[in-house]
Amino acid sequence: MSGRYALVGQPVAHSLSPRIHAAFGAQCSIAVEYGLIDVAPHGFDAAVAAFAKAGGAGLNVTLPHKEAARALCATLSERARRCGAVNTLIRGSNGWHGDNTDGAGLVHDLTERHRLDLRARKVLLLGAGGAAHGVAPALLDAGIESLWIVNRSPDRADALSDRLGEPGRVHTRYWDDLPNLGVFDMIVNATSAGRSASAMALPSSLATERTLAVDLSYGEAAIAFLSWARSQDCETALDGLGMLVEQAAEAFRLWHGQTPDTDPIYSELRAGAVALHTAE
Ligand code: ATR
Repeated sequence: MSGRYALVGQPVAHSLSPRIHAAFGAQCSIAVEYGLIDVAPHGFDAAVAAFAKAGGAGLNVTLPHKEAARALCATLSERARRCGAVNTLIRGSNGWHGDNTDGAGLVHDLTERHRLDLRARKVLLLGAGGAAHGVAPALLDAGIESLWIVNRSPDRADALSDRLGEPGRVHTRYWDDLPNLGVFDMIVNATSAGRSASAMALPSSLATERTLAVDLSYGEAAIAFLSWARSQDCETALDGLGMLVEQAAEAFRLWHGQTPDTDPIYSELRAGAVALHTAE
């Protein structure tokens, strides 16, 4: 489908999404017009309305608008409803349809690109903000054994757990309990600690060499957590660059009806990964 597309967020200046969507478009012979809309929360609804009026057909949504995006949708996909957050908007005749491609992007990256089996894993999810909401349902659907949500503010962990509605498999614990939770098969860092000045202290009892450690950020924001994982001898410590590319591919499919090959752009971005310093 032709039309205009964009990423809306704040900040968005360093986003890789225009580059990724341009690469997908070139590969699929679709002329993609993909821009950036930098807008503060109070201007979000007006910016989206203006974009639609100007022929906007689809938006990716990033910080801090994922919940506001959900609120303005006329319809939601099942997975966006489960996440409680929207990262992809598709313009329909009745308004915006909201979806969330983050979880599918993460699981696709882990299971297809890295050939990891997520089934039966005891998983620790650090954080309960927008990023954690986006990936939690997909992790459960991928067949993990249990999800342990630990957040600095316990009420947000409880809210995410309630939303997921699987009390047999989803548990919350206080941050101070981390040293007592034993070892995990997989640890997902969904906090924004790596993007802030406040460091995140993790005990060494959480991981063994068989633990899969994943940071949903990439570049500089992922360095602290991945360094910690390597200091625990985790065999596999991955950043969120692959997830970023895969969630973009899923959005591209929703907008244009074609599934791009993600390997070329992933390799290109990975080759320059040391220069990356942001997450979206
Ligand atoms: P995002 O969309 O990236 O998830 P967010 O919704 O602002 O952004 O959520 C940020 C997450 O990182 C929250 O879970 C936050 O914990 P709180 O809910 O207690 O604020 C977490 N976080 C940020 N800095 C942290 C730090 N230094 N240590 C632990 N958790 C941190």
